Amino acid sequence: MNFIITTPLYYVNDKPHLGSVYTTIICDSIARYKRLRGEKVLFITGVDEHGLKIQRTALNNGVSPKEHCDEVSDIFKNNWLEWNISFNKFIRTTSQEHEKVVHEFYEKVKASNDIYMGEQKGWYCVGCEEFKDNPDNSPTHKCPIHKKNLEWKNETNLFFRLSKYQEAIEKLIQDPKFIEPKERRNEIIKFVSKGLKDFSISRTNLDWGIKVPDHLNHTFYVWFDALLGYVSAISSGDENHSLDLSIKSGWPANLHIIGKDILRFHAIYWPAMLISAGMKPPQKIVGHGFLTREGQKMGKSLGNVLDPKILLSKYGEESVRWYLLKDISLGSDGDFQDRRFVDIINNDLANTIGNLLNRTTSMSRKWFNNQTPSIGKKNNNEIIKLANNSIKNYLIYFDNYEIDKACNEILKLATNVNLYLNKKEPWSLIKDDTNINEVKLIIYNVLEATRIIGTLIKPLLPTLSNKILSQLGENDIDNKCWNERLRWGLLPELSNLPKPVPIINKLDYE
Ligand code: MSP
Repeated sequence: MNFIITTPLYYVNDKPHLGSVYTTIICDSIARYKRLRGEKVLFITGVDEHGLKIQRTALNNGVSPKEHCDEVSDIFKNNWLEWNISFNKFIRTTSQEHEKVVHEFYEKVKASNDIYMGEQKGWYCVGCEEFKDNPDNSPTHKCPIHKKNLEWKNETNLFFRLSKYQEAIEKLIQDPKFIEPKERRNEIIKFVSKGLKDFSISRTNLDWGIKVPDHLNHTFYVWFDALLGYVSAISSGDENHSLDLSIKSGWPANLHIIGKDILRFHAIYWPAMLISAGMKPPQKIVGHGFLTREGQKMGKSLGNVLDPKILLSKYGEESVRWYLLKDISLGSDGDFQDRRFVDIINNDLANTIGNLLNRTTSMSRKWFNNQTPSIGKKNNNEIIKLANNSIKNYLIYFDNYEIDKACNEILKLATNVNLYLNKKEPWSLIKDDTNINEVKLIIYNVLEATRIIGTLIKPLLPTLSNKILSQLGENDIDNKCWNERLRWGLLPELSNLPKPVPIINKLDYE
C-alpha cells in the first residue's frame, strides 16, 4: 500500500515563493522519511492552473492563459528539481487526464443528487478564489488575507449540497488525528458548528476552466477542479488513467500538508465532495503556519519578499531546509530572520555537527593510519545509551510530524558527543602509550555516533547526509536498509577514512 502525501497544487499566477518552498520541503522530508522506513511513497505535487486569478494574470501579461500556464508550470517543476524535491507525480490541472477525472467525479456527485442550479450572490476574493461570508464593513470590502477589494458577484451557478454532509463532517473532525494541530482543528470545529451551507461549483462568464459537460456555458469552480488533482495525479501517466484507476491505485491520500489559509477547503469541502462521490476522505490534514520576514508579512509592496532562487544559489538547499524545518514548529507561524538564519546554520551545521565530524575523522586518520580504529570487543557505554535514546525520540517525533523536535534530537546527540569528547580529551590521553585502547574506543564511539547523526539527518538534509557518511567512508548506502543502519556498531573497524573536507561553509552576516 502506498503512503500518499501531497503538497497543495500551487497557483501559477506567480513563480514559487518561500511559502511554497516551505510547504514542499516539509512534504519532501516526510516523504523521504517514510521511504527510508520502508514504506512505498507516492509524493504528489503540482499546479492549479484554472480560474479568474490565472486568467487575469495572463491577460495582464499579454499572453493567452495556456501560454502563461505552460511557462509558469515549467518554472514550478524545474524549481522543485533544483531544490532536490523527491516528488513522484507532478499534476497539471490543465492536463487532459485531469479533465477526464473531473468529469467522471462530477457524474458520481450528480448521481448522489448533490448538484442543483441556484443563485450565487456575494462578495468574492479573486486572490483566494472564494466567496467571503463576512466581508469587513469598510466601503470597499477588503479581503482580510489579500487586502484587496472584494468583487460583487451575482450568477446562476451549479451548487453542491454541502449542507447534507453536516453530520458526516462533524463526525470526521471529531477524530483528533484528522486535523492537526489542535488549534487548527478547533477553528474548523467552530466553523462547522455554525452550520454548513451549500457552495457553488461552477462559474459562468469565465472561460478559463474545465467545461461542465451538461452545462457548456459553465466552467467548474477552480477549487472543485483543483482538489481533484490529488486524485487524478495517482493514475496520471497510466494509459488506463481514470478516476476508478486512481481509487484502485491507492486513494485515499494519507496526508495533505497545506497552509492554514486553505484548511476549510481541505477539511470540510473536500471530504464532503469525496463522500458524495462514494470515496474515502483523506486520512489526515496538517495545516502549517505562515512565514513572515523579520516579523512582517512578506509582500511585494513591502519589498521584503525572499526569492527562493536567490536563497538557493546563495546558501544552498541544506541551509534553507535546516532553518525552515528546525526553527519553525509545524503548525506555528515562523519568521525568517537573516541574522538568526546565519547563526543557526553556523552553530548547528558548521560548528556542532561539521566540526565534530571534522575533528574526529582528523584524529582517527592521524593516530590510526588514516583509518577507523579497531576496538575488538565493543563495550557498552554512555554514548551508546545517548545515541539509542536519541534514535528512539527522533522516530517518535517524526512519526508525529514534529519535525523540529526530530531535528533538535539530532542536534542534542551531536552536542552531547562533543561534550563527551571534550570530557575524555583523547588528545591528552594519546600522549601516553598505555592509553591507546581507551583512545581507540573513544574515537570509535564518536565516529559511530557521528554516523548515526549522518543517518538520522538523511530525510531532512539528504545532500548533507551523504557528505557526512562519505567522510566516514560510507558510500552508496541503500535507502531500504535505513532502519537497520540505525543500529549501534555498524561503522567498520580499520576502514579507510577519506581526507576531511568541511561539509558546510560558515556563513557571514551581510
Ligand atoms: N491553489 C491553491 C491550492 C489548491 S490545493 C488543491 C492555493 N495555492 S497557493 O499557491 O496560493 O498557495 C499554496 C500554499 O502556499 C498554501 O498552502 C498556502 O498556505 C501557502 N503559503 C502561501 N503563502 C505563505 C506564507 N507566507 N507562508 C507559508 N505558506 C504560505 O492556495
